[in-house]
Amino acid sequence: MMASGLLTSDGPDDTSALGRAIGRHATPGTVVALIGELGAGKTVLAKGVADGLGVRTVVNSPTFVLMNEHLGRLRLHHVDAYRLSDPADALAAGLLDDRLAMGVAVIEWADRLDGWLPEERLEIRLDTPAGLNPDVRTIAWRAIGEAHERLASAAFTDSGVEPA
Ligand SMILES: Nc1ncnc2c1ncn2[C@@H]1O[C@H](COP(=O)(O)OP(=O)(O)OP(=O)(O)O)[C@@H](O)[C@H]1O
Ligand SMILES: [Mg+2]
Repeated sequence: MMASGLLTSDGPDDTSALGRAIGRHATPGTVVALIGELGAGKTVLAKGVADGLGVRTVVNSPTFVLMNEHLGRLRLHHVDAYRLSDPADALAAGLLDDRLAMGVAVIEWADRLDGWLPEERLEIRLDTPAGLNPDVRTIAWRAIGEAHERLASAAFTDSGVEPA
């Protein structure tokens, strides 16, 4: 089962609002796979998810440690795969182990873990289209599996951000 859609973010506030709605509707085992170039807004969205989960600690790009954990309504695992030379390293580092099933995983540069991610996930691709407004992002999402389809449908409706 799969569902997909396209949204437009007109600025960081929209992207945070999308993240916050995902955080509010996340359930144990939620996996959010973020794909996009440097500066696309992956961390802005990840911070929103943390906020929506009620995380109070500071969420930064976990660039040097691969993964940070934060405690909110559920445990948040914030992964940044940017520096991974080999996806096998991620597995060795315990990045995608069973603990994730109990919490929420938000993975930046998820395309670098291709083939190693859980099949069921909410994949979000952020792009900066060429144009006059540098704050616009197209947000293409794809939800795989029933739980993530439900999450996407609930969160994107609740976010207040209009479909593209
Ligand atoms: N619509 C938008 N959504 C998100 N961020 C935006 C938007 N418009 C402008 N920005 C700006 O773009 C930057 C996005 O930075 P962010 O750290 O989230 O990117 P990133 O995808 O995590 O990059 P990196 O790969 O370096 O970790 C921020 O400075 C943010 O203010
Ligand atoms: Mg980032």
